Amino acid sequence: MEKEEFIKKYAVERRNTNSSKWDGLESQFGETDLLPLWVADTEFKVPEAARKALVERVEHGAFGYSLVPDSYYEAYFNWQKERYGIELHKDWMRFGTGVVQSLSTLIETLTVPGEAIMVLQPVYYPFMRVIENNNRKLVISELVNHDGHYEMDYEDIQKKMQENNVKLLIFCSPHNPVGRVWSEDELEKLLAICHDEKVRVIADEIHHDLIIGDKKFTSMLSIKDGFYRDNLVMVDAPSKTFNMASLLNSHVVIPNPQIRDLYDEEEARDLVQDLFFHLWNHAGTLQVATSVKAYLFTSVRNRCLNAIRDRKIRDEHNNKLIEAQLFSGTEDVVIDEDVHRRLQEALDALPDKCREIILLKVVEGKKNKEIAEQLNIAETTVKTQVQRAYRMLRERLVPIFLLIEYLQQGF
Ligand SMILES: Cc1ncc(COP(=O)(O)O)c(C=O)c1O
Repeated sequence: MEKEEFIKKYAVERRNTNSSKWDGLESQFGETDLLPLWVADTEFKVPEAARKALVERVEHGAFGYSLVPDSYYEAYFNWQKERYGIELHKDWMRFGTGVVQSLSTLIETLTVPGEAIMVLQPVYYPFMRVIENNNRKLVISELVNHDGHYEMDYEDIQKKMQENNVKLLIFCSPHNPVGRVWSEDELEKLLAICHDEKVRVIADEIHHDLIIGDKKFTSMLSIKDGFYRDNLVMVDAPSKTFNMASLLNSHVVIPNPQIRDLYDEEEARDLVQDLFFHLWNHAGTLQVATSVKAYLFTSVRNRCLNAIRDRKIRDEHNNKLIEAQLFSGTEDVVIDEDVHRRLQEALDALPDKCREIILLKVVEGKKNKEIAEQLNIAETTVKTQVQRAYRMLRERLVPIFLLIEYLQQGF
């Protein structure tokens, strides 16, 4: 389609449609007469075929939980194969509600609090935020600017990986904001260093379809015919290509089966398992035990902070107080009887089998395989029951908000 025809068919006014980019200018910058380059979405409608499919879906009228149909995998796999020669497999695929959310789960899957994660700056700022919010150490290697053309400093990358015992690299390809479409050679050099230094890599390839000129995008997944795949997780989404960010869908492509298992556990575990485990073991105590305090510090604190920020509480003063409280001592934090009552009620509401399994898993710390053997049921049944239990517990406990309430009571 010619450019003019495309613009005529797809360009759309986004002001006054609750667009973050346009209608959020005032609250973000205090002015409205600005060119909003702060959000990477476009002034174009989604492709006609996507719009039709969405209209059909809306006309159907029910929005209960859905499966991912085979046609979705087929469409995505064909796209990746035809354009970039990447062969993907259904069992590699996981889904998220956004690349940044997926990065957070991956950080928790692949590292523990305090471990070092590298980014190459300048880079999309949520990379740094998601590392720091998860209580990991941020290590920066600067890209080198040759008159506007940025390159990686391999020596610096390797040196800093060694010095800081870096465990993970979050890499942007193509790169936002420097606009580089990395060459195969550049990607291979970087992956070879990561391989030597035992540093895992998350490749954020969300911008892979948005390339000016005849530069060729190469996915990290296909470097050296997939040699580095086991060390690599690729994330992308249809949101940038088709202007669909508010539909909240992202892909997490994990070729390595061990990482997949860890990721599944992490995703299901969520806050609920940790909370449940600690609270259950301290049932009856009014004052929080030391282990719970430590736990509050590492895990809950960051999620509370995210929740506070995501709820966009604009009261700066209040935010500062909450942050100060979260980052200082936990001495004032009291988990009272009400939490234990809610916990017990949430547990009682689970179906019998589900409760039995979750108690073995969370309280006794048994692995799915051990539970399956003990109860003489299939491991997949354990897995689905555990996920079901977490879902039900989460709905009942709404733990983050409960905790915020408690933390705020301290003021
Ligand atoms: C490199 C990069 N990753 C991720 C995102 C955001 O993705 P999501 O909305 O799926 O979290 C952006 C958006 O600008 C981006 O530039």
